[in-house]
Amino acid sequence: MATAEQLKSLIRAHFSDDAERFYSVSLQVAAGEARQGHAGLAHDLREIIDTERKKDGPRLLSFPRDLKGLVLTEEPSTPLSAMVLPTAIRTRLHRIVHEYRQQNKLKQYGLVHRRKILLIGPPGTGKTMTAEVLAKELDLTLNTIQVDRLVTKFMGETGAKLRQIFDLMQQAHGVYLFDEFDAIGGDRSHDNDVGEIRRVLNAFLQFIEQDTSDSLIIAATNNPGLLDHALFRRFDDVLHYDRPSIDQVKSLIENVLSTFIAPRFIWKRIVQACDGLSHAEIDHACRDAIKTVILKDAKQVRASDLMTAIMDRQNARSGRNG
Ligand SMILES: Nc1ncnc2c1ncn2[C@@H]1O[C@H](COP(=O)(O)OP(=O)(O)O)[C@@H](O)[C@H]1O
Ligand SMILES: [Mg+2]
Repeated sequence: MATAEQLKSLIRAHFSDDAERFYSVSLQVAAGEARQGHAGLAHDLREIIDTERKKDGPRLLSFPRDLKGLVLTEEPSTPLSAMVLPTAIRTRLHRIVHEYRQQNKLKQYGLVHRRKILLIGPPGTGKTMTAEVLAKELDLTLNTIQVDRLVTKFMGETGAKLRQIFDLMQQAHGVYLFDEFDAIGGDRSHDNDVGEIRRVLNAFLQFIEQDTSDSLIIAATNNPGLLDHALFRRFDDVLHYDRPSIDQVKSLIENVLSTFIAPRFIWKRIVQACDGLSHAEIDHACRDAIKTVILKDAKQVRASDLMTAIMDRQNARSGRNG
């Protein structure tokens, strides 16, 4: 139930014609109900509010002032087809999109679309990009939580900020990305003890478990060592990313070089040279090769041009100057 303060605010807002205030208190009531486990009522309330709001035409979401600087909002434009992925992951991303679009159908049967996703894998393999393409495919805003700013010396403060972010998810549907979220626990290289890091991480995962919003929550990490495997069950999907296979290296290079690729491109040595590089590093090498070619007033990237750029990436990775 709404608190006494909320009821008073609602009545005052109504008589003073303050639609903004009426709206925001109504959302607080819905969020409160969701927290008490009344997911059905919370959902109904949000639906009433959403319907009424739509009649007023689209409006920009106004973030609570405390969250400014903590959440970055954008509307990505990269489609899923731009990603080079193993079939198993692509299929699962399609399923997330499909269930999201059909969520009302699922709700009729008391089922919830998959919306809590954990992405694990080495840097540069497409975890952040996945959040971007899901937002694009679902036509949602991407809200990236600035995890490093969330962390404070005091566990209590971090918890309060997390609460605000999870309240926001109830109010404004979108994709919410906790990128490299293991940092929520604090930096292990400082004198934080491992027990404290685990406690903060656990608090975060509990927020995820309790969340009943319609938003898509994505948590990404390069560093699964800190996570207890038992936590994985709190997510609807756990996707493991990895460096590209030989076939994927080829697809990635073809995608990025696109019309710049020279005819009779010789693949064998190129693919071997990419061994150990991430998608991001190969993407970078391709763009470097294109730049070099453009600056030479040529039109095509030959295998030898790309090879130079790849060796630069390999050397950067091992800390050599080439
Ligand atoms: N699987 C992929 N397919 C195509 N491009 C990729 C892929 N992974 C990474 N990239 C390229 O590398 C860039 C950085 O990747 P990113 O998603 O930030 O990696 P991560 O978050 O896993 O560290 C992307 O913007 C994209 O240009
Ligand atoms: Mg990333």
